[in-house]
Amino acid sequence: MGLYDTFGRLHDDLRVSVTDRCNIRCYYCMPEREVRFGPREEILSFEEIERFVRIAVTLGIRKLRITGGEPLVRHDLPVLMERLAAIDGLEDIALTSNGVLLEKYAAPLWKAGLRRLNVHLDTLDRERFREITRRDELDRVLAGIEACRALGYRVKLNAVALKGVTEDDIVPLARFGREKGIEVRYIEFMPLDAQGLWDRGKVLTADEIMALLAREISPLEPIADADPRAPASEYQYVDGGGRVGFVASVSKPFCLNCNRIRLTADGKLRYCLFAIEETDVKSLLRHEGGDEEIARRIADNVRSKWLGHQINTAKFVPPPRPMYAIGG
Ligand code: 5AD
Ligand code: SF4
Repeated sequence: MGLYDTFGRLHDDLRVSVTDRCNIRCYYCMPEREVRFGPREEILSFEEIERFVRIAVTLGIRKLRITGGEPLVRHDLPVLMERLAAIDGLEDIALTSNGVLLEKYAAPLWKAGLRRLNVHLDTLDRERFREITRRDELDRVLAGIEACRALGYRVKLNAVALKGVTEDDIVPLARFGREKGIEVRYIEFMPLDAQGLWDRGKVLTADEIMALLAREISPLEPIADADPRAPASEYQYVDGGGRVGFVASVSKPFCLNCNRIRLTADGKLRYCLFAIEETDVKSLLRHEGGDEEIARRIADNVRSKWLGHQINTAKFVPPPRPMYAIGG
């Protein structure tokens, strides 16, 4: 049993996007205006999401991450969270959020059973935050992070690293993380933006960031017991200052260890962030597909999974959906 693909990779991690909407506009993800969101009736209901997750768990899914767009703009998210947290067999539930609404939702989500979250934050500089996200929300994000810490959440920060844009933010963010005991994960800029801005020259690589941190703060060493299937490679500061992670999707693809599948807010299953084809499950969920039929579709999707993205070859074709419509 278990969701194996034809390369022998076991899939036990599901990411569910609950909305493609977002309350900020990070330029490496969304266009500034006229974002084309899907129609609301296309978005899966809580019942549909819960049913899908239950079926996926019977197939061996053990870890769940709720993403967006920004998941907290979905109405009543704590209600969904509570239902999902109650599913037998799920060992881990996490949320990825931009933090803008966290001050309000941290407590209800905790009550619903959430204990772990990643907050997206690229900079501690208000002006740069505004340039990157086209919104002036840094203070609310920082307040959201504090609210989560006060409640006892395990918090990590996701920072997208962009050459010439967030280079000056790498070290201040790392210091912030060390001070607060929060792991910062630097994510290489990937070709998932809505406007096609990506090019290799804009990627600040994990090696470059590590060199910067080693020079300015403390040398790093790999963590011995790190999970080999996690997307981030984890390091610790040699001086005891805590952990830091790198998602080196571009410079060191980790597709060989991939254990993840994704359900989009409009009910399409994707075996890769960069997948071109996707499997429709919404029509089964809506039109009386039986559980076995849905289970078969999930297994088929995993079996059709490719070996990995081709960002580093001339063959690379960006996915037809941008990040906000896929879910991290
Ligand atoms: N490249 C890399 N990471 C991205 N994210 C969004 N767009 C991109 C991109 N083009 C990240 C954000 C978010 C996570 C879900 O994905 O940091 O936290
Ligand atoms: Fe919103 Fe996340 Fe995209 Fe930023 S990266 S615009 S927070 S969905």
